[in-house]
Amino acid sequence: LSVPAICIDGPTASGKGTLAVEVAHALGYHYLDSGALYRVTGLAMRRAGLEPTPANEARISALARTLPLRFDAGKAMLAGEDVTDAIRSEAAGMDASRVSALPSVRAALTTLQVGFRQLPGLVADGRDMGTVIFPDAPLKVFLTASAAHRAERRYKQLISKGISTTLDSLRSDLEARDLRDSSRSVAPLKPAEDARRLDNSSLSIEQSVEQVLNWWQEVQ
Ligand code: C5P
Repeated sequence: LSVPAICIDGPTASGKGTLAVEVAHALGYHYLDSGALYRVTGLAMRRAGLEPTPANEARISALARTLPLRFDAGKAMLAGEDVTDAIRSEAAGMDASRVSALPSVRAALTTLQVGFRQLPGLVADGRDMGTVIFPDAPLKVFLTASAAHRAERRYKQLISKGISTTLDSLRSDLEARDLRDSSRSVAPLKPAEDARRLDNSSLSIEQSVEQVLNWWQEVQ
């Protein structure tokens, strides 16, 4: 019998992380934030003095294959250093999006991601959880929200952390990231054929969690 898995994929700032954490908590399952792996790879790349270009693909994927990364109580630790905040900046998101378009970087991170699927179950969020990493998952959710809603949420998150930004620059960043993520040739952002779509533009987090838990019951 395979280990239970729920995939939550969708564009930037659609609320996948919050939803996936809440669903994992409700079910007592493990949680995989696959975007964090690309973000940490981007950070490791910068620290090695490299730019996210195809010419550096072999060197970046070598870094990804041997990432000294641990998740510890919700914190991302890179070689013992807490990089939880460093990987959350818009610049780190942009770097993540660039390194994630390199095929051998994606391949390097595959085994690591598959390893998160352990009993009693996993909730994984990202762009290709349902299409590439866990194609046999019994429940795949494709989460969306309008670009305006997503920019607004990201704005509030950053402002509450004391990071200054503008709504306009966030919206153009996230549209650029969506475009790159959806148009790349490997594992582009798209709903799996058997994904259930959820638009949370006008849903509370509780309502979204309830919907996913109902679907999970349905597929059992
Ligand atoms: O989800 P998050 O914004 O943290 O992801 C950062 C970037 O990593 C995304 O813009 C995307 O390019 C990439 N990513 C990916 N595949 C995943 C998760 C994230 O390509 N499964």
